[in-house]
Amino acid sequence: MKPRRFRAPGRVNLIGEHTDYNGGFVFPAAIHLATRVTVTARGDGRLRAASNAFPETLDADVTALKPTGNWTDYVAGVAAQLQITEGADLWIETDIPIGGGLSSSAALTVATALALGAGNRPRLEIARLCQRAENEFTGMRCGIMDPFASCLGEAGHALRIDCRDLSYKAIPLPESVRLVIANTMVRHALAGTAYNDRRAACESAAARLGVSFLRDIDYSSLTGAELRCARHVITENQRVLDFEAALLSGDLEAAGEQMYASHESLKTDFEVSCPELDAMVEIARRLPGVYGARLTGGGFGGCTINLVAADAVDDVVSQLRAGYEAAAGMVPHIFVTSPAAGASEIIE
Ligand code: GLA
Repeated sequence: MKPRRFRAPGRVNLIGEHTDYNGGFVFPAAIHLATRVTVTARGDGRLRAASNAFPETLDADVTALKPTGNWTDYVAGVAAQLQITEGADLWIETDIPIGGGLSSSAALTVATALALGAGNRPRLEIARLCQRAENEFTGMRCGIMDPFASCLGEAGHALRIDCRDLSYKAIPLPESVRLVIANTMVRHALAGTAYNDRRAACESAAARLGVSFLRDIDYSSLTGAELRCARHVITENQRVLDFEAALLSGDLEAAGEQMYASHESLKTDFEVSCPELDAMVEIARRLPGVYGARLTGGGFGGCTINLVAADAVDDVVSQLRAGYEAAAGMVPHIFVTSPAAGASEIIE
């Protein structure tokens, strides 16, 4: 049979960080960087996968898939969720930086799900299946935001998602702004375990308050780490709503202020920033044409997202690069993106 190809985009989150697994609001957009999977059916019940981005390969019976601790767990996890019975050869290519906070893992699970035949299912079901695959096969207790954005992204729009009932609105980005993503080129080793630790702290705060999610609650009775986690989540939810209102009314300064406030809360209350991310935000804050900047994704390295006036983009990119190189001694990877469409088959 003729091979088929599928693509799933990475995402950048404009605001609403560490709120998805707390039943809160997020504001991601799919981006132009993507993962592509070429699939060829096999008659022998074996699932094989290889990639241009990693040295390890997968070659296993589809009825006996087990986590191995490398990237192929994302592929095997999806195949296990889909309970596939036919074998397949998968060739995976990506241009999303790995571990950069731009959802390379969700792009991989979503593209794999489409390649393994999930394309006719409702998009939201595919997103949930991909989240479960990652939770169960890699131990990363991530929320729904990344596969949601990769499955349901819309060109020119960010998605304002309510992660409690999974309803969403596609919000157009004004023509006059660009999204500038700045990769600090660092990823601190604790990122995976610290993510699960933060999630556990949120869950224990919710349990102490007798609620399922940190939302619509009074957190003043909490103390210590639980107080700080809850305060971040509750105030971040409000910032997402304020950001949305500012964007819709065309007040880009007000939208940008919410981004700076989000970064500050992630730094001081939720404690998921790092010196490199803080430096990138501080450099951006001084540049004309930057409305707002903040870390994006789980934190502990990876990228910042900058909301930038379209006519200032070239200057902002070169000054951000020079400023970060002087401050951190590393050359950052900086690129301009616009919201892209969600996952699809590539028809050539
Ligand atoms: C990672 C997770 C998401 C979300 C963000 C933080 O990207 O995969 O589910 O929790 O961190 O907002």
